[in-house]
Amino acid sequence: MRVVIADDANAVAKASAQILCQQMIEQPSSVLGLATGSTPVMLYRELVRRYRAGLVCFSEAKSFNLDEYVGIDPKHHQSYHYFMQHHLFDHINIDPMAIQVPQGLSDPNIECQRYEAAIASAGGIDLQVLGLGANGHIGFNEPTSSLASRTRIKTLTEATVAANARFFKPQERQPSMALTMGIGTIMEARHILLLATGEHKAESVKAMIEGPVCAMHPASVLQFHPTVTIVLDVGAASLLNSQQYFYWVEKMRAETTPEKRENS
Ligand code: F6R
Repeated sequence: MRVVIADDANAVAKASAQILCQQMIEQPSSVLGLATGSTPVMLYRELVRRYRAGLVCFSEAKSFNLDEYVGIDPKHHQSYHYFMQHHLFDHINIDPMAIQVPQGLSDPNIECQRYEAAIASAGGIDLQVLGLGANGHIGFNEPTSSLASRTRIKTLTEATVAANARFFKPQERQPSMALTMGIGTIMEARHILLLATGEHKAESVKAMIEGPVCAMHPASVLQFHPTVTIVLDVGAASLLNSQQYFYWVEKMRAETTPEKRENS
């Protein structure tokens, strides 16, 4: 696990955009796994800025989003389809035919199988972007999810529904079920890039990095992945016992030639 502690949310967006753009430069036909939620919004803004500045090109990229609400129309302003169009896809040159978000209106079981098959036929995910739930969820794999799970329907916890209520108008029906890539699906990505910001994520971050691996904290499974980069701001990193070590590692990396750098 590589853990980068950045000064603030803006620095988290810049550091994670740098990693994603490097991936695109090294492999223009990369398959990206993308997340929604508040945390990656600044990353997407930075990607759009870099695209407009001619620093990155997405014309050969493919993308798969982690999740979508069950029963929601892709045109609904709270669907994850809409979110991705609004924050990223409408502003970069990714091929609209190369974008996939689970279809919330399709038969869920058929859709989950189709989604897994589509990821496999694209050759798997090269770089998967993740946010982190305060309860440890990744995608919508809530605590007690099987660490080997595949894309499927999950019932959200009351806490997750409450955390996401801020996005819905008071009179709007808020879905409580989602289609989500499974933990096994996520773990097959070749590189995982997880972002977390704010002190309200600090306990979850600590459990993910320094706690035992367990289904009660799904993100802890990332300890088993060989190539994970976690980018935190100081608030999200504030409870880590290993903070000084992570700063030290980054200092050493900066002083070492790229050829000698470790990846994880
Ligand atoms: C969204 C997703 C979720 C979020 C998580 C954190 O596609 O998969 O796991 O990443 O709920 O959300 P924010 O960033 O809003 O705190």
